[in-house]
Amino acid sequence: MSNRRRANAAAPRSGAVTHVLRSDQFTRQELEKVFRLAARYESMLRSAPQKLRKQFAGKTLVNMFYEPSTRTRMSFAFAASHLGVTVHGTENAKEFSSAIKGETPEDTARMLGGYFPDLIVVRHNRKRGPERMASVSRVPIINAGAGRGEHPTQALLDLYTIWKKKGRIDGLTVVIGGDLKNGRTARSLASMLCLYRPARIIFVSPKQVRMGKDVLARLKEKEIAYEQVSILNGALAKADVVYWTRVQKERMPEGLYKRIKDRFIIGLPQVQRMKQDAILMHPLPRVNEIRKAVDGNHRAHYFKQAENGLYVRMALIALLLRRQLKLRP
Ligand code: NCD
Repeated sequence: MSNRRRANAAAPRSGAVTHVLRSDQFTRQELEKVFRLAARYESMLRSAPQKLRKQFAGKTLVNMFYEPSTRTRMSFAFAASHLGVTVHGTENAKEFSSAIKGETPEDTARMLGGYFPDLIVVRHNRKRGPERMASVSRVPIINAGAGRGEHPTQALLDLYTIWKKKGRIDGLTVVIGGDLKNGRTARSLASMLCLYRPARIIFVSPKQVRMGKDVLARLKEKEIAYEQVSILNGALAKADVVYWTRVQKERMPEGLYKRIKDRFIIGLPQVQRMKQDAILMHPLPRVNEIRKAVDGNHRAHYFKQAENGLYVRMALIALLLRRQLKLRP
């Protein structure tokens, strides 16, 4: 490839750039495109990992994480390197980047774009952080979790996990529980479920941290049946999928945290009330809301779910680099 062609390939044409910011940008067709490629990568990583590494040699990804992360940051980094993409960036960008000196997300994005990366992955402490970066960026921005807002790539891997394990998403009863007000994974999952026809979504949470009205309005608009309860027990036996989340200590006053932190704990007695073929999911990290004793139960699926993040992020990176993902703006 000539130097000029290489430079052109690295710099996305303005107008053609696809950012991944919210769950509602996807269509069912695009989701399934991601899932099919993720499944292919899942088997290719075992059979032909060397071949994979040649796919996108010379491409670069920037990982900018303004909030803590283990799975999301590492799985994006590994996803990139399994595809031959070079990774740059910083963890703790809130302190290690110029954000601490007062630089705006827009200025950071503009400047990073000048280094000709191919993708920028951002976890931001502000709900609109990734969107603000996208508003000025000619390089695709991927939202890797933004404050109390959205975490669309987690929803992708959550739905991929259900699709793989249950063979379908339509017709399932999905229980989503925990801190639904502050947990962005629960918000994004519920929004993305709108692309399917789940039989019912049951939200289980203390009343202080119920699911946001914006997400409920979307469910209503899409005519998806849901209910909100504050007692776990009845919901367990009905579920095909139980999606549990932690109480977001860092996003609420200490007093409230202390009052609700032990309200919903899933231990073996609770899991045994679930259907034999139901699955228990969690975006992780878990604190104490799923007891360790549950890990050995055949319904526990959260570690496999976290592994699936690798395949889904590989698929997302590949589709974005090939400009094959068609998302709403
Ligand atoms: C979640 C997050 O950061 O929103 N973690 C993740 O990405 N898997 C969940 C959480 O922090 O509770």
